[in-house]
Amino acid sequence: MASSFLFIILVISSCYALDNVRYRDCGSQVGKVKSLSINPCTSQPCILKRGTNVTVTINFSPSESIKKIQAVVFGVLEGVPIPFPLPNPNGCSNSGVKCPLEKSAMYKYHSIIPVKKIYPAVTLIVRWELKNSAGKKVVCLDIPASIE
Ligand SMILES: *[C@@H]1O[C@H](CO)[C@@H](O)[C@H](O)[C@H]1NC(C)=O
Repeated sequence: MASSFLFIILVISSCYALDNVRYRDCGSQVGKVKSLSINPCTSQPCILKRGTNVTVTINFSPSESIKKIQAVVFGVLEGVPIPFPLPNPNGCSNSGVKCPLEKSAMYKYHSIIPVKKIYPAVTLIVRWELKNSAGKKVVCLDIPASIE
């Protein structure tokens, strides 16, 4: 009884967020991605609904100490990266990450991406980069997605 109840809860919650979203590493230089979670995301590639906010959570570990991180996001369409403005590009503030970052420690970064109504309904790659002050990529993820 208790276990079937738990099973139902697990099934329901998995309809809203995927904790292990597939991605491709697009050239992380001074860090390593451990996992990626997107909420809401019910299928892969993730469907980003226009007029909603989507939360992206990246678990990663830097391979050197890092003073500050900045998030840079692109929508890659037909191989062409188009900047995707973030309300909060500062990876050290309201992101769950405390700066400076220690070498080899695990961090859980999160950010909201507003999927604006004016965006076209396209299949694209969301390229999420976290960069250090020197512009080196701590992590770079290519996330297949579809705007609807
Ligand atoms: C998305 O987030 C922004 C900033 O937090 C907020 O102002 C806006 O109302 C949110 N939009 C929706 C559709 O939840």
